[in-house]
Amino acid sequence: MYKLTFGTPEKHVPSKYCKNFNYVPKSVNFPTENISFRVNNRGCVLSFPLDNDAQIYGFGLQLKQFNHRGRKLKLSVNADPVAPTGDSHAPVPFFVTNKSWGMYVDTARYAEFYCGNQMNSAFGGGQKRQVVKEEGNRLAGISTDELYAIRQESDQTMTIQIPGCQGVDVYIIEGDTITDIVSQYNMLSGGGCDVPEWGLGVLYRCYSRYTDKQVIGVVEEMQSKDIPLHIIGLEPGWQSSTYSCSYLWSDLYPNPAEFMKTMLSKGIHVNLWEHAYTHPTAPVHDALAPYSADTLVWGGLVPDFTLDEARKIFSDHQKTLVEMGVDGFKLDECDNSDYTGSWSFPLSAQFPSGMDGEQYHSLFGLLYTQVMMEALGDTPTLSEVRNMGALAASYPFVLYSDLYEHQDFIRGVATAPFSGLLWSPELRDAASREELLRRLQVVVFSVQCLINAWYCPDLPWREFGCEDEVRELLKLRVRLMPKLQEAFHIYKATGKPPIRALVMDYTDDKEVANIDNEYLFCEDLLVAPIAAGQGNTRDVYLPQGDWEDFFTGESVQPGWHTVTTEGIPVYRKRG
Ligand code: GAL
Repeated sequence: MYKLTFGTPEKHVPSKYCKNFNYVPKSVNFPTENISFRVNNRGCVLSFPLDNDAQIYGFGLQLKQFNHRGRKLKLSVNADPVAPTGDSHAPVPFFVTNKSWGMYVDTARYAEFYCGNQMNSAFGGGQKRQVVKEEGNRLAGISTDELYAIRQESDQTMTIQIPGCQGVDVYIIEGDTITDIVSQYNMLSGGGCDVPEWGLGVLYRCYSRYTDKQVIGVVEEMQSKDIPLHIIGLEPGWQSSTYSCSYLWSDLYPNPAEFMKTMLSKGIHVNLWEHAYTHPTAPVHDALAPYSADTLVWGGLVPDFTLDEARKIFSDHQKTLVEMGVDGFKLDECDNSDYTGSWSFPLSAQFPSGMDGEQYHSLFGLLYTQVMMEALGDTPTLSEVRNMGALAASYPFVLYSDLYEHQDFIRGVATAPFSGLLWSPELRDAASREELLRRLQVVVFSVQCLINAWYCPDLPWREFGCEDEVRELLKLRVRLMPKLQEAFHIYKATGKPPIRALVMDYTDDKEVANIDNEYLFCEDLLVAPIAAGQGNTRDVYLPQGDWEDFFTGESVQPGWHTVTTEGIPVYRKRG
C-alpha cells in the first residue's frame, strides 16, 4: 500500500477520525506517474488511464449497481437512492478493480468518480488521447443502449473530482485478488470488528407502540414455541419523545429497571432505537447546545461528535442505559434523505469544529458509533447504524434501510463487503407466505439475523400459518452462529470480510464479474438466494472447486446450473 499526496489536503478527512488508522508504506507497481492532478474552480481533479477490461467495484453500500465500470457516481449520503448514481446510506471513496489494485481517496467530500470516460490529453488526462479513425460509416443506433454502448469502447480514463478542496491523499493498495486488496483496506483502519456470538443470533424488533407487557409477551410466546430468539429491539415507543429524541423511557415502560431485569432473566439482550437529534426535553440538551450545529433536525440539536465535550455529554447519558443492561443500539437517521421529506441538515450547515454539513454527513455514522462504543465501554455488541463512511471496518454496526426491494437487498449483501461495511437485508412484513420465507432465507444467511417488525402489531408470520418453516429457518441460523463467529475472528485478525461477492475471491474468473445475486458466506459456503416473487427456479454459477449441496451433501460440478427449489440454494466447498 502506498500513499500519494496531491496538493494540500483538507483538515477534516476520514483518516483523522479513524482511531486505529495504521498506514505502513510499501512500494507498489501501479504506474503512479500516470496520475495527473489539477485544481480548478470546483475543487481538485485526479485522472489516470484505465485498462479497457478493468472492472470497478466498491464505493460503499451500493443497492442499485454492482460493477461501476462505464458509469459516473457522485458519492452522496442519501437514504433513498433511486438509481445507480452513487447515492447511498453509506458511500465510501474506495474502489477496487480486477487488475490487482484498488484506491482509497481520503476525503469527506461528495467526490465524483467517472469510471471510464474520455479526456483530452491537453488537459492532463495522464495519457496520450487515442484518436480512433474508422473506415466507412458507423450505423446510427436505434435504441438508447446501442447509442451509448458505442462510446464505451473507447472510454479509458478514470477521473475523480473532489469539490471544495485544494488537495487530497490517495492510497493505492495492491493484491492478487479483490479479497486481498479489501482485507488490506480493512487493516488500514485497524481490522474487522469482533462480535459476541449472541449478536449473531435472532434479533426481533417489536412494534413501536407495544407496552413493556406486550414485549414480554412476544418473548414468552417465541420461547414457549421453541422459536429461537436472542435479542429484543425496542423501537421509538420506548422514549418519551422521538423525532427528535429525549433518551428517556416513556409511559409504555412504567418501570424500566424491572422490565430490563425480566428480559435479562429470560436470557434476552436488549437493543434500543435512537437517533442523535436531541430534543429540548432530553437531559443533555442544554449542555450539548454549544457543541452543536447551527441547524436543527426535527427540532433537535445535531451534536458535533468531533468535539470531546459533545462526545462525553452524550455518551455519559447513554451509559445510564448500558448500566441497566442494554447492550445494543440502533442509531437511526444519521444519514440524510433527498426524496423522503428531504429531512436532515443541509450541506451548508456549520459545525463548531469548523466542519460543514457535507463533511459531517460523510463522517456522522462513524463518529456516532464511536460515541456509542464509549457508552458501551467493554460491553460487547453487534448494533445497527444507518450511515457509515470510510475506514469503518472495526465498528460492530450493521447498516439497514427503509427501502425494501428484495433484489436490491440481496445486491447489498454482495456490495457492502467491498468497502469494510456490514449490511442487513432485514425482514419486515410480507404480502405472502412465499415472500416472507424468501426474505427470511436471505436474512438467515447474512451477518445479522434481523426481523424488524417495527410497524407490525403481530408476529409477521402468523397470518401465513408458516410458523414451522420460520422455526426451522431460525434454527438453521443458530447452527450457523459458531461458523459466522469464526469468520468474524478472521475479519478482525486479517480484514477478510465474513461475506464476500464471488468476484472478491475468484477475481480471475471472468464469469463472476457481474454476479450480484450470489455470495460467499464464511470460509466455505456459497449462497445463491431466490428473490421474493421470482418463482422457484434460478441459474446458479459455481466457480472451480469441489462443491456439494450444503443440505444433501450431494456433489455438484462447477459451472452454471438451473436449480428449482422452495428452499435456498447453498453449496459447500469441500476440503
Ligand atoms: C426508520 C427506520 C426503521 C424504524 C423506524 C421507526 O427510520 O429505518 O427501521 O426504526 O425509523 O421510526
